[in-house]
Formats: sequence, structure tokens, C-alpha cells
Amino acid sequence: MVTILITGSSGQIGSDLIPALVRKYGKSSVIASDITFSDRDYDVEKIRLDVTKKEDIETVIKEKSVTDIFHLGAILSASAEKHPYEAFFVNGNGTLNVMEAAAKYSVNRIIIPSSIAVFGNDIAKERVKPMDSTHPTTMYGITKVLSELLAQYYTSTYGISVRGMRFPGIISYETPPMAGTTDYAVDMFIHAVNHENYKCYLKPDTPLPMMYFPDAIDALVKIFEAEERSLRYRMEYNVSAFTFTPSELYSLIKEYYPDFSVEYEPDYRQNIAESWPHSLDYFDAVKDWGYSPRFSLNDTVKDMIVNLERIRKENDMKKTLTQNP
Ligand SMILES: NC(=O)c1ccc[n+]([C@@H]2O[C@H](COP(=O)([O-])OP(=O)(O)OC[C@H]3O[C@@H](n4cnc5c(N)ncnc54)[C@H](O)[C@@H]3O)[C@@H](O)[C@H]2O)c1
Repeated sequence: MVTILITGSSGQIGSDLIPALVRKYGKSSVIASDITFSDRDYDVEKIRLDVTKKEDIETVIKEKSVTDIFHLGAILSASAEKHPYEAFFVNGNGTLNVMEAAAKYSVNRIIIPSSIAVFGNDIAKERVKPMDSTHPTTMYGITKVLSELLAQYYTSTYGISVRGMRFPGIISYETPPMAGTTDYAVDMFIHAVNHENYKCYLKPDTPLPMMYFPDAIDALVKIFEAEERSLRYRMEYNVSAFTFTPSELYSLIKEYYPDFSVEYEPDYRQNIAESWPHSLDYFDAVKDWGYSPRFSLNDTVKDMIVNLERIRKENDMKKTLTQNP
């Protein structure tokens, strides 16, 4: 019997993780928490919880008898570069608070997504391995390296099993892009489906590793359920599925929308993207806990377009009904 607390549950990953955990463990086993909630109505308990407030986290863990935590509350890369102090406060202190509160009340597992942002300019960019050096140039990357080190410390010192993986850019249609550097990809799809042209903030030839959200959710559930003895690393596992540049994605989307056009106007996010790897070696995740991405880039493009078209039609229908009740 598990009671799973999710922090930052209203975000891109949380919105997709809640239904997956409910399907596996039942809705009474899942508690969603965030500082703000979207209008999506999840049929699970919701609690307003700020991860910068350690006592509040302790109260929830104690009162709800939380056994495990998916810690997703964070400020993502692009916002973090605009607000580095706040990003350290939420991502660094917030993660420390979650681990400290979990240690106090003997939580079993904490699952935390790390990021390709842990890597910096001192690595070869292709097929980067889990134990390659991590010298990030961004505040977001610094907070992710800190989280990885805290995961090792709290696991070895307090016996909690802190686990996770470094995600690349995650593509999904459920939540609009928020504050990540790889979000241009989702935004490009949304513009194409709405028959709007797109201004891309990265150069056309910027390669970044990516994956489709069902594979990311599957990876989170798999590492959650993995036997402790099979884990060689804590949060240092690399995962990804494919690599593309903005111009490669544009060509694929244009096959569905021949009139779609993209302009390139790189901004500060170009520097962030250039400090990250082009591709990851994720063999250790496959070997240790069965990571197995199912979606290729072509599958992802097709599925994104089918679902974004469905959402657009549903929204159009809602608009018509409101205008002509
Ligand atoms: N989405 C990606 O492409 C990606 C890639 C690599 C790693 N990650 C990591 O996965 C995790 C979840 O990311 P996401 O994509 O769902 O991000 P997101 O920005 O969509 O969601 C983050 C959530 O955290 C919440 N939050 C912010 N400050 C908080 C606070 N003080 N207390 C509690 N909650 C707070 C936000 O309200 C938001 O709902 C993060 O750790 C992120 O770094 C995401």
C-alpha cells in the first residue's frame, strides 16, 4: 500500500503522471500538490504546498502518512536564467526541504527528474554518458547537479531511496509550454495546428535530445518500481529517444501543413541550448531498470498533430456553444 505525494503536480510532467499513477495504484493513493492549480479537474486529493516551506511539507507527509514522493516542483531552465536567485531557492532549497522532511518521517522513495542541463561545455556533445563530467553554465544546471549530489547524500546517510533520471526536452500536448529551453518544439506544433506562423528563439541548426511524454512517464514509473539492488546510480541515469534541430522539426511538420512557415530569431535561450549535449547514451537505464522508449520522432510528430487537432476542434466547439448557447 503506497501513498504518493506529487509536488509541482500541475506542471507538464505532473499533469501526465497523475493519471498514470491513478491507473496503477488507485486514486486514493495519489495526492497532488502545487502552489497553483490548473483548471484540469483531476479526481485526486489536491493540497496547496510550496516546497520552499519545509514545515508545510513535514505536515503533509505526517498527516497523510506519505510513503513516497515524486518531487516535480521546480523553476525550469529559461525562467531560471531570468530569475537565478529564485530558481536556486525553489530548485535547491526546495529539494533539500523535500529530502529533509522525507528523512524525518521515513519516506521510502523520492523520485526527482534531473536534466541534460547538468552538462556543460567541457563534454563531447554526442552520446554523453551518465558519469561524464557535470559542469553546467546555467543556474538551472547548477541546481540539478546539487539535487543529484543531495540524492546521493540522503540515500547513503538516511536510507531513503532517492532516484531519478536526466530528462531531455519532453514533448507533450496536454500542457502548454511554460519555461523550458526545449519548449520551442511544442510551441512550433501548436502554431502549425492553429495555422499561425512561428518565430523560433533558437537557431535552425541547434540539435537537442528529446522524447515524447508517454516514454517519460513510463520511465518515471519504471524507476519508481525498480528493485533497489538494480540501481547503480541515484539521479544520474540518462534517458532520451531522438535528437532533432528546429529546422528538421519544421520540415516534418511542413509535410502536414505545407503553408506553415518559421522565422528564426535566437535570444538568450540559444546560449543555454548550446551548453547542452546533442545526444545521450542511455544504455545504463535500459540495462538497470528496463527503460524502453516506444516513440520515434516520426511517431511523435504524427501523434502530436492528431491530438492537437482534436484539442483545437474541441475548443472551437466550446467557443461556438458559448457564443450560441
Ligand atoms: N519538461 C521538461 O522538458 C523537463 C526536462 C528535464 C527535466 N525536467 C524536470 O522535471 C520536473 C518537472 O518539470 P515540468 O516539465 O513538469 O515543469 P513545469 O514548469 O511544467 O512544472 C513545474 C511545476 O512546479 C510548480 N512550482 C513552482 N514553484 C514551486 C514551489 N515553490 N513549490 C511547489 N511547486 C512549485 C509550478 O507551479 C509548476 O506547476 C522539474 O524538476 C524539471 O526540472 C523537465
